[in-house]
Formats: sequence, C-alpha cells, structure tokens
Amino acid sequence: MGDFPNLRGKRVLLVIAGGIAAYKCLELIRRLRERGCGVRCILTRGGAAFVTPLAVSALTEDKVYQDLFSLTDEAEMGHIRLSREADLMVVAPATADLMAKMAAGLADDLASTALLATDKPVLAAPAMNVRMWQHPATQTNLKTLAERGVRFVGPNDGDMACGEFGPGRMAEPMEILAAIAACFSLGGPLAGLRALVTSGPTWEAIDPVRFIANRSSGRQGHAIADALAGLGASVTLVTGPTNEPDPPGVRVVPILSARDMLAACRAALPADVAVCAAAVADWRVKDPAEQKMKKGADGPPRLELTENPDILATLAQPGPDRPTLVIGFAAETEQVVAHARAKLARKRCDWILANDVSPATGTFGGARNTVHLVRGDTVADWPTMTKQAVAQRLAAEIATALGRTEGERG
Ligand code: C5P
Repeated sequence: MGDFPNLRGKRVLLVIAGGIAAYKCLELIRRLRERGCGVRCILTRGGAAFVTPLAVSALTEDKVYQDLFSLTDEAEMGHIRLSREADLMVVAPATADLMAKMAAGLADDLASTALLATDKPVLAAPAMNVRMWQHPATQTNLKTLAERGVRFVGPNDGDMACGEFGPGRMAEPMEILAAIAACFSLGGPLAGLRALVTSGPTWEAIDPVRFIANRSSGRQGHAIADALAGLGASVTLVTGPTNEPDPPGVRVVPILSARDMLAACRAALPADVAVCAAAVADWRVKDPAEQKMKKGADGPPRLELTENPDILATLAQPGPDRPTLVIGFAAETEQVVAHARAKLARKRCDWILANDVSPATGTFGGARNTVHLVRGDTVADWPTMTKQAVAQRLAAEIATALGRTEGERG
C-alpha cells in the first residue's frame, strides 16, 4: 500500500530557512496536505531567496509569514499564536545558522522567535555543506538541541549542490513526512491499521469514446473511507469516476475499469480491512473497438460481453494477503436479506451490507440508505440513515470487530 500515514486534522508550522534544499519543501507541503495535514509556513529572509512566498502560499492555501515586525502579520497572527495553533513545528531546511540561533536562544527574526516561543515539539531536517555539518560548532548545537528534545531527520549522505559529497543533504520529503507522522502519536481506535475501500462505478470501454457504466454515485464508499480515516486508519480508496470530493487524509487511487480496480486493490494490499462498496460492472465488452464505431448500413453493432473479475471474491480468497475483515455490499431490488446471505457464502466474505436499491428507495445517488448487516447467521436491521451515518456505524463495528474499541491502541 506504500506508507500513507493519515495526518488528518494535524497542523504543522513549517519554517523554511535559506538553503538550496528549500525547494524540497514545496513537495513536502503537497504530501502533507494530501494526507489531511494543515500546513502554515514561516519563510525566513534566506528561505525567500530560494522559494517564493507565492509558491508557498499557493500550496498551503494560506498566508505566508515572513516578518517579525510586520504590523499586519502581528495584528492578524502574533508569533505566539502561530505556534499555539500548530501541533508540531518543522524546520526544513534547518541551516547551520538557524540551528545555531536555536541552540543559543536568539530571536532576531520571525522564525527564530517562533522557535524560541513555542512549547510544541520541534522536528528539524538539517541541510548544509558537509564541512559546516561536521564543524564542532554545528555538532555541539546538534547535541544541545537533541538534549532539549528537538528531533532530527537526516541529513543524508550524497552528492550536494555545492559539488561535494558527504553528510549534509536534507532528508527527502517522504522521509520528513514519515518523521512527522512518527512525531504525532496518531490517535483513534483504528490507528496503525490499514483499510482498503472501493467506491463508485466502473467504466467499461465499448470504443474510445463510449463505455458501459452504472448509476453509482460513490457517496457511500467515499463516506466509508472518510469514516475509517476519521477513526485513525490509513485508508486507500480505489474509486471509479465520481463527483465526490477526495476525503481528507485518504490516499485516493482513481481507476476506470473493473480490471484496473482489481489491479489497484491488489497493489494496495496488505490491509487489515477491505470494504467493497464499488458498483463494479459485471460484464465488459470482450473486444473494445480501437477506433470509434461508425453508424452504418449494417444496423447497430452486436457487443459481445465477457465477465469481469469479482474484486470482492478475489480479496476474500483465503491466503496470506487476505485482509482480516472483508466486507461487501449487496444491492438488491427484492428478497434483500436472502440474496445477501447467498452472496456472503458465495464470495466468502465476512460481512455483507445489504441494501434495497429499487428505484422507489432513491438509494442510488441519494443521501440516505437503509441497510441490513449480515454476518454469519445474524442480521442487524439498521434504521434508515444518511450514508455518512451508515459509514460511521460501519467504521465503529469494524473497530469493535478488530478489537479496537475507543481508547485502545495497538
Ligand atoms: O455480485 P454483486 O455485484 O451483487 O456483489 C456486490 C458486491 O460485490 C459489492 O460489494 C461489490 O463491490 C462487489 N463486487 C466486486 N466485483 C465485482 C462485482 C461485485 O467487488 N465484479
């Protein structure tokens, strides 16, 4: 699944100081934000020589704080509030100069003042020339800061922008991201668990412009991904085309066809729980035309269909990669529970959420859903509720089933 920590609701105050590695911070901001983390930036005078306030502001979708004595900055957001409103301060790149200031307790610009004023944890990613890094002054500052509880990520060994080789390269954005995730003791009953959710319809090509699809809106699947992330799980959402926004803190993998969906699901394993809420097309056109099909004298074309892979049944197959809990949906228009029971056995999944999608219910594309949770021989009839409420209840049931009730961590 790759490491995709859920940083939803966390807030990082990122200090970008003046080093060539500052450009990597733009990538770091993007990666943090796609994991649901809020990022606010302080850009030092040196930092602004390497990245522009405009780029930082566009990526954080926030003002960039640069000046200690700016009337507007202080009026809108004092340096104390900047740190108060963050959960973690990250200094990247941490230059030799800024590390020295931090060690000495200097406060002659906004970055150093905020770092002196903060009572939040601080993570620093040093970046400097190899000799500056190895200088006893820097090494002493490093030791002092580490003793005071500042955490460090990097520097790495390698070729440096100054043409030398050795320790001093700033850690890569994904390494800094992992260090940030480790700084947060991630909360929630599903913290540390991985979830895979499928959502939306699939599109099966007929020719380059036409396809077979269905009316699935993706609302229920997206709500489930959102609810699982809300309980702290690391969630991958594999979804067909929908109009639903990406849930914050969730890794979203867009796909079109059922076969793409299966490949993306396989790539997302291992997972502790899989919830298949997608409306996967049962059939696809056996040989889609490579060029747009033309109207002709021969009348409408005959489309030969072939069966699509069953993603739920594939994920539920016994094997080392089988998630502990595999959950499917059964959209039925009659004998809802009876059909769901048969499906549970046929697909070898653990639970089925059965719902009535006959047109009168308005479930497809609607905001509400009436479901029955079928597991083993038991059926729980849930009252009609919003798809978000169904998702939250399901997420809570999953936490209980995996032995993760509120307050417990594994
Ligand atoms: O067999 P049926 O389509 O009714 O089963 C519905 C359940 O199976 C849903 O959870 C759906 O996401 C899943 N499914 C699947 N791959 C298919 C067909 C259905 O994952 N090809």
